[in-house]
Amino acid sequence: KPEKPTNNTTKQSSWVSPDWLTSLAQSLSIGKDDSNIPIANAKLEDVSELLGGALFLPLFKWMQEYGPIYRLAAGPRNFVVVSDPAIAKHVLRNYGKYAKGLVAEVSEFLFGSGFAIAEGQLWTVRRRAVVPSLHKTYLSVIVDRVFCKCAERLVEKLKTNALNGSAVNMEENFSQLTLDVIGLALFNYNFDSLTTDSPVIDAVYTALKEAEARSTDLLPYWKINALCKIIPRQIKAEKAVTLIRKTVEELINKCKEIVESEGERIDEEEYVNETDPSILRFLLASREEVSSIQLRDDLLSMLVAGHETTGSVLTWTAYLLSKDPSSLSKAQEEVDRVLQGRSPTYEDIKNLKFLTRCINESLRLYPHPPVLLRRAQVADVLPGNYKVNPGQDIMISVYNIHHSPQVWDRAEVFVPERFDLDGPMPNETNTDFRFIPFSGGPRKCIGDQFALLEAIVALAIFVQHMDFELLPDQNISMTTGATIHTDNGLYIKVSQRQTNSAFAASSSSSR
Ligand code: HEM
Repeated sequence: KPEKPTNNTTKQSSWVSPDWLTSLAQSLSIGKDDSNIPIANAKLEDVSELLGGALFLPLFKWMQEYGPIYRLAAGPRNFVVVSDPAIAKHVLRNYGKYAKGLVAEVSEFLFGSGFAIAEGQLWTVRRRAVVPSLHKTYLSVIVDRVFCKCAERLVEKLKTNALNGSAVNMEENFSQLTLDVIGLALFNYNFDSLTTDSPVIDAVYTALKEAEARSTDLLPYWKINALCKIIPRQIKAEKAVTLIRKTVEELINKCKEIVESEGERIDEEEYVNETDPSILRFLLASREEVSSIQLRDDLLSMLVAGHETTGSVLTWTAYLLSKDPSSLSKAQEEVDRVLQGRSPTYEDIKNLKFLTRCINESLRLYPHPPVLLRRAQVADVLPGNYKVNPGQDIMISVYNIHHSPQVWDRAEVFVPERFDLDGPMPNETNTDFRFIPFSGGPRKCIGDQFALLEAIVALAIFVQHMDFELLPDQNISMTTGATIHTDNGLYIKVSQRQTNSAFAASSSSSR
């Protein structure tokens, strides 16, 4: 029976219905409504996957059945799921017509008014203020002083595992690495999570986990304030956010004092302070009119947006390379040839072409986040003549677009060379929205260059110093939060490589 699109803001009461699971299952029906969009007929086992599992996997199954656009009427929530590049392009580029919607709802407890979830004038002003801080000179300084240093520290730590033969959970290590990187790059603050435990680090993970849990919770009980005061998970999350905010506020105040006492001002477009090249320092020296709370929330947005995402890219790239020894050797040969045993500079990175393609291809197979959410602000007609009503939630499944056989040849296979080695960096524009790991349109990721450089440097230093293989008999399965995670970690055995220094020595003596 055709089903009318629902506006989920008007159906709050069904969240607390005791048999909501039954109503959820019943509301999944077959057919088409007057919007022209087919309605997915989900089975109960798929529904259970939706409840806290890897959401993008059933979405992929339904794409194969219902095509590149379908409606998922999951109880009180009703999503139009998009797996087509042209429709994704339309939604992402028409920012005025589509707001962030649900994403803002699930992460507001952490981001506050941060620009990653803000809308309208606030978003425009803050994005414009922050983007100039990520200029080329900043990136080249950060490559050397932060990306290389943190990756070298990781390799030092792994040498102990190589010596004693113990297995390493690389997902955890890459997550720690990227937390250290983003702390230094944003506020010149060393979490030092690779080697120490601290309440702030725990708080960051608790808050991240909460944001992820909320993004897959079908029952958003956390919208009810009174419940947040008594449910242990919520009490823990609130404490974590308080601690993180306090830490960032202190960093802002300290930095403000220094900038004031030195009378520091930005005197050139690509300004970098020698002793503290962080984004916070740039923003304070730029003397933009902004409250400390807004600045705190903007920096927190970037901390969250830039941490697990890059960590997950490294995890899945290492996984893919461990399954493809010939690509791993090729990447190692390239790193040895280009770097001659030293760490990369900003200038070296353009020559690490194959390694870069491994990361691009990893982002295709494992996009983070695997789905992008939007909410229609006005009635609209999508390419293909599909109608949407105001208030309609839309899920753009980046995972589906990246895995669709209609969009990619050998879509499920890891083929780094599918992106021309000498071609431009693949992005939404030059692939016409077939490849959108950083989204597209006005709300595209502002950290794409930063993240790619960080991932290339970390991977280059890792494969330069280490050989590695997956611990046998591991079942590496995926689960979702804001990024694609493994269910139980990615355990590998590492051994120290000799070839890099030997290569450097032999090539310098033959010159
Ligand atoms: C937004 C992906 C790293 C900062 C986004 C979006 C995606 C994304 C897909 C858009 C979400 C949407 O359209 O709804 C990634 C991936 C990364 C990464 C895959 C790593 C490989 C970073 C880093 C930073 C960052 C390192 C900061 C230095 C942001 C911010 C936004 C954003 C602030 C919100 C932009 C806005 O709404 O105007 N990211 N990101 N990201 N990203 Fe990234």
